[in-house]
Amino acid sequence: MNSATLSAVPPVASSPRAVARVGFLGAGEFISFQHLPNVSLIASSRVHAICDLDTRRLESHAAKYRPAYTTRDHRRLLEDPEVDVVIIGTKQDLHARFIVEALDAGKWVMCEKPMAETPEETARVLDAERRAKGRLAIGFNRRFAPAYARMKRLLAAQKPPIYLNYRLMFPSPQKDRGFYADKARILYEGTHIFDLLCWLLDAAPERVYMTGDLTRNNICVLEFPGGSRASFMCGSMGSYFLWKESLEAFTHYASIVVSEFIDMRVRGIPGEFDAFYAPHLDRLGEEVRREGLDLYETRKSQEMMAEVRALDMPCERVVRPGRNFGPLPYRMEGASLLIPDKGWKASAEHFLNCFLAGTKPDNADGRAGTLSTDVALCALRSLEKGVPLAFTPSPV
Ligand SMILES: NC(=O)c1ccc[n+]([C@@H]2O[C@H](COP(=O)([O-])OP(=O)(O)OC[C@H]3O[C@@H](n4cnc5c(N)ncnc54)[C@H](O)[C@@H]3O)[C@@H](O)[C@H]2O)c1
Repeated sequence: MNSATLSAVPPVASSPRAVARVGFLGAGEFISFQHLPNVSLIASSRVHAICDLDTRRLESHAAKYRPAYTTRDHRRLLEDPEVDVVIIGTKQDLHARFIVEALDAGKWVMCEKPMAETPEETARVLDAERRAKGRLAIGFNRRFAPAYARMKRLLAAQKPPIYLNYRLMFPSPQKDRGFYADKARILYEGTHIFDLLCWLLDAAPERVYMTGDLTRNNICVLEFPGGSRASFMCGSMGSYFLWKESLEAFTHYASIVVSEFIDMRVRGIPGEFDAFYAPHLDRLGEEVRREGLDLYETRKSQEMMAEVRALDMPCERVVRPGRNFGPLPYRMEGASLLIPDKGWKASAEHFLNCFLAGTKPDNADGRAGTLSTDVALCALRSLEKGVPLAFTPSPV
């Protein structure tokens, strides 16, 4: 994890380009929601090609983003010398395979999480990363969320031990069917948070314990060197009307709490104060920066009413005591305007700019992707055995 080992990675060839040409491999729901619109908004990048198996989706992307071409054959994309960076957005069962193919084709590669599902896959990815000309980034975008990036800077100045607590709880009935029905949430979503916790502490855990069920709801405890500890509740219980994620950090006489990436409270660190962070793409940024989480939650609950009614869940608009923000002052045109800034755009922009500059990106690399998968697999073994387990990171 330390910078001395990281700098052993060979230097990358610099690129004389002004614009990074991006090829998308798998452009389903998440890529349509984030990376495609983000890449099209980033001045230094261009949507060059889109590959997916779904022809209707390809037609709709072609009309919206005007790439040079769309294809159902990923080899066409990987063989295209005009594709500089490949963004992989298939589901996790294809991540490791496509990362290896794309790196071997000489591309810079950004792949969604989790990087891999098994130790054999992580080993194959690490081998490919070692021999690659390009760089690999795993989509652990939370490292680039403004509130978390600030927390990382603040914690770096604190003396260990540090205690962290992460809560990621939100209903996801759509995942009870289809691909995710028998998949462990701790692997496909928990890896995001294992990466974040290890990144915040700049360490790998020594012991891991997890309790809960096999696929949906878990509580984990991670013991880190130097006495630091993390607890992590990951699951799909609770109401749609409470925000999904919170991060809390405690050190000697200092506390930092971030709620839904929006509301950050900093106590006990001289000169550092509370802050509200604008939602993704700064939508309604002025109001949220002024009124904070109360306004965000109230408006968000109003936006979500129609969606939640269709799910047959109890639905009641959030009303904060003493605050009356009135009815939604804008028309809902489909998508919500209030999406927290989880760092999606910033993480892609940073990676693409590093490609252009020929510099080493700060995104999570293959080593970090391996660590988060290893921790998730160790947590699942601990769940099975019902005891805490010593954790040994894979050799990288
Ligand atoms: N970072 C985040 O915040 C975040 C959030 C949600 C999802 N994700 C990740 O995004 C990824 C995609 O999730 P999704 O919900 O969009 O899935 P999805 O099923 O909607 O999209 C996957 C797409 O890949 C395509 N595909 C499958 N095989 C292919 C092949 N051989 N060649 C080309 N295309 C192929 C499918 O046709 C589909 O359109 C997952 O890894 C998920 O973990 C990340």
